Amino acid sequence: MTATLQHATLGIDFGTSNSAMAVRVAGGPARMVPLEGAAPTLPTALFFNAQDHTTHFGRDAVAQYLEGTEGRLMRSLKSLLGSALLQDKTAVHNQLVSYQDIISLFLRMLAQKACDGLGGMPGRVVMGRPVHFVDGDADRDQQAEQALRQAALDAGFAEVSFQLEPIAAALDYEQRITHESVVLVVDIGGGTSDFTIVRLAPERRGREDRSSDVLATTGVHVGGTDFDRRLSLDLLMPLLGFRHTGPTGREVPSRVFFELSTWHLIQWLYSPRALRDAQNLRTDYSNVQLHARLMRVLHERLGHRMANTVEQAKIAASLADADAPMPLDWIEPGLGAAVTPAGLAQFLAQPLAQVVACAHECVQLAGLSGEGLDAIYLTGGSSALRPLRQALQVAFPDTPQVEGDLFGGVAAGLAVSG
Ligand SMILES: Nc1ncnc2c1ncn2[C@@H]1O[C@H](COP(=O)(O)OP(=O)(O)OP(=O)(O)O)[C@@H](O)[C@H]1O
Ligand SMILES: [Mg+2]
Repeated sequence: MTATLQHATLGIDFGTSNSAMAVRVAGGPARMVPLEGAAPTLPTALFFNAQDHTTHFGRDAVAQYLEGTEGRLMRSLKSLLGSALLQDKTAVHNQLVSYQDIISLFLRMLAQKACDGLGGMPGRVVMGRPVHFVDGDADRDQQAEQALRQAALDAGFAEVSFQLEPIAAALDYEQRITHESVVLVVDIGGGTSDFTIVRLAPERRGREDRSSDVLATTGVHVGGTDFDRRLSLDLLMPLLGFRHTGPTGREVPSRVFFELSTWHLIQWLYSPRALRDAQNLRTDYSNVQLHARLMRVLHERLGHRMANTVEQAKIAASLADADAPMPLDWIEPGLGAAVTPAGLAQFLAQPLAQVVACAHECVQLAGLSGEGLDAIYLTGGSSALRPLRQALQVAFPDTPQVEGDLFGGVAAGLAVSG
């Protein structure tokens, strides 16, 4: 290893939806590590190709799945940290491996990209973590961090320290400010929403101990994948029988629809047992066409494709502030639905209220009122969601919102924090 690399820090943002890495050498600026071609971020996704037994990552993994290649897609693996499912074994290329091993496989690919891009592994590695992997359970939260650390060690990283993701985002923002400010940093990603209130100042950059500048941190396990689930349950799952009343007057049992709408649970529905359970729901339907659609989705492993359709429509409806169609012709000709701006606000009202409550809690913990804040700094892909921005505007009407680097800021801040 070169002497320069020995004194460099690698920041790893292992995200629920996207991952990124940045490196900082000897007090210089943080630089993003190219991950897929020149792209500095890549989807946290793996695809195990069942035809040729190859493993694919990132955009390549998603593309293989969407092209209909036979195999298994895995997304949102970070959501399994802190859950009992993490140690469950699953068959991958004819071998039984745990989901923790699969996270490790993804991190091993990141380690390889870092070595290839930088000519070796930096001496320090700082990994991000949400304020809470698991809400309201300190033991499971600690287990989640430990599992991620172990996965990183198994992947070949020699030693890993952790930094809270919102603090990393704040340190990245601090590189660009020109005068002291007290900022509410809002990082809304795929799995979690994290907040911190920090005192930032150009002259404080690079200080060893910043703990007295961190006035409060809060976090809640709600993010973009939860928004996708809500939209899917309200708009798509009814097409497969969710809330459909059967011949006895009872609704079809809803569990399968919740799992099919939850990114990290979809793959469980394709096991022989889950398929049998779903097949047995047929007698709970009055309209068996709805059941036939459900079975088609499960047999043809179209669950991630549905989730992807919802996610893309959510983003499109939010960006354009206009209706976004969700065509489902690949389930049945003419089938589909649409996300509308009003629907976004209505169906996401409850999770958005949880996110805003968590922001308020952070302000209170810091002993501030809205007036004590100089800015709200927004990062994380879901911070772009229009109704979320509006809800924050209502909650903190006098505080200007500043948009950061939505997808790279945490990795850059992690590299700086080392
Ligand atoms: N323009 C947009 N409007 C709304 N949501 C968006 C937009 N762009 C991306 N998203 C959502 O942002 C989320 C991904 O954001 P990001 O990459 O910051 O998350 P992450 O870092 O992987 O997750 P986490 O930090 O929670 O582990 C996805 O849920 C995606 O649907
Ligand atoms: Mg993130």
